[in-house]
Amino acid sequence: MPLVSMNEFLPKAKAGKYAVGQFNMNNLEFAQAITEAAQELNSPFIFGVSEGALKYMGMEFTVAIAEAAAKKSGLPIALHLDHGSSFEVAMKCIRAGFSSVMFDGSHYSFEENIRLTKEVVKAAHAMGVSVEGELGTIGGVEDDISVDESDANLAKPEEAIRFYEETGVDCLAIAVGTAHGMYAGEPNIRFDIIEKVASAIPVPVVLHGGSGVPDEMIKQSIAAGVGKINVNTENQVACTQTIRDVLNKDAKVYDPRKYLTPARKAMVEVVKSKIVLFGSSNQA
Ligand code: 13P
Repeated sequence: MPLVSMNEFLPKAKAGKYAVGQFNMNNLEFAQAITEAAQELNSPFIFGVSEGALKYMGMEFTVAIAEAAAKKSGLPIALHLDHGSSFEVAMKCIRAGFSSVMFDGSHYSFEENIRLTKEVVKAAHAMGVSVEGELGTIGGVEDDISVDESDANLAKPEEAIRFYEETGVDCLAIAVGTAHGMYAGEPNIRFDIIEKVASAIPVPVVLHGGSGVPDEMIKQSIAAGVGKINVNTENQVACTQTIRDVLNKDAKVYDPRKYLTPARKAMVEVVKSKIVLFGSSNQA
């Protein structure tokens, strides 16, 4: 199966009150682990690729790996640019084979964010590619982007609804209290904001910063109208912790397969638990 736009599965997710996971791809082992987990549970999913990950893996390898995953698994998989910073980078990804892009104009003024997102939507939709927009500022650290919690600001429901109406995005990330990275305590998620926005627009709300969010809060978010949830850090932690354990146990290990095989296995378990929690099993 070729890579698909998020519109192949997000409308169904919203109607069925479940969420599809965006699992970030950082290398081949991440891609293999995510695909294996999704295949076992027969779930659609989204490969999220940040600009930093794209620079690390290279455009050709990124697209080739995602295409191989779709072909091998037969699952509906979207290859999605995560937090795209410009029209140009979004177009570069689409030309190379991405089936979905996020344009993150959240650091611009509201009107400018609408104007720029609209341009991306117009071009992407003409090519059958789905678009995610962002409103409000999501805190935490992702790649080289760091947003201090005190600078993070929550999305205003009326603005989010107008943003959707004017841009026509296929899903909308709104800042509701989650952050990229792990949490020191528990996040304070504003389910009321999710509910207000999700009930007024036909597309799903996206929850960024899915790592470390307690299961009950994830379920409540989905019930309130979240249809796409992003997870990256939990896989990174599982991968690195496993590698650290293997190397600590045996300082003589030099074959990368000796630590990457268990690291990949640990990520399969993380992704499987998220797919079950999000409710997207058997929705492929
Ligand atoms: P986490 O790294 O906190 O899971 O967030 C991922 C994310 O939101 C990617 O956009």
